[in-house]
Amino acid sequence: MPQLRLSATPRPTTLRPDPTFRMDLDSALNDKPAEGATATEMLRADHRQMKQLFAEFSKDKGEPLVRKVAARAVCMQIELHDTLERKVFYPAFRERERQMIDWFLHEHDEVMRIVLDIRDREEWNDECDAAMARLSTLVERHAREEEDELFPIVDRMGETWLRDLGIAIVKQKEALTRSTKALEGPAT
Ligand SMILES: [Fe+2]
Ligand SMILES: [Fe+2]
Repeated sequence: MPQLRLSATPRPTTLRPDPTFRMDLDSALNDKPAEGATATEMLRADHRQMKQLFAEFSKDKGEPLVRKVAARAVCMQIELHDTLERKVFYPAFRERERQMIDWFLHEHDEVMRIVLDIRDREEWNDECDAAMARLSTLVERHAREEEDELFPIVDRMGETWLRDLGIAIVKQKEALTRSTKALEGPAT
C-alpha cells in the first residue's frame, strides 16, 4: 500500500477554484434555486450518518439475516457517498490537490472492495462481522482525514462556488436515490 504523510501534503498558495473543473450546473440548477448547505456541510452530515449506522449495526446482535440486511443498508450509504465524492466532489479539487485526492481515491477503492465483498455474501457469519469491523475502521479514519485535511481548504473557497458545488452534490444524490428506488420497485 502506498504510504503518504497527509500532513506533508503541499498547500496551495492561492485559493481559487480549479479552472479545469466544470460542474454540470445546467442540470444541477434546473428546478431548484441555489440554496441550502455547503458541500462540506452535506458531506460531514453523510459522515455522521455512516458513523451512526455503524454504531447501530454493532449494537444489534440479532439474527444473521437481520445483520445481513443492516449491513447492506450501511453499504448502500457508503456506495452513495463514494459516488458523490468520486463524481462531483473530488474532481473539483483533483488538479490543485492531486496527491491528496489520489490518496483518498485509493482509500475509497479499499473501502469499496470490502463493500462489494460484504454485498456478495449469501450467508452471514463471523467473517462478515469482521469485515464490517474493518470497514468501520477504514471509513471512520478516511472521514477524519477528509475533514481534517481537505475540508478546511474547501471551506476557504468563494461562497458562490461552494454553494454551486453543494447544489451539484444534492442533484447527484437525488438522481442516485431516484435510480436506487426505481431498482427496488414498488413497495409490496
Ligand atoms: Fe471520501
Ligand atoms: Fe467523505
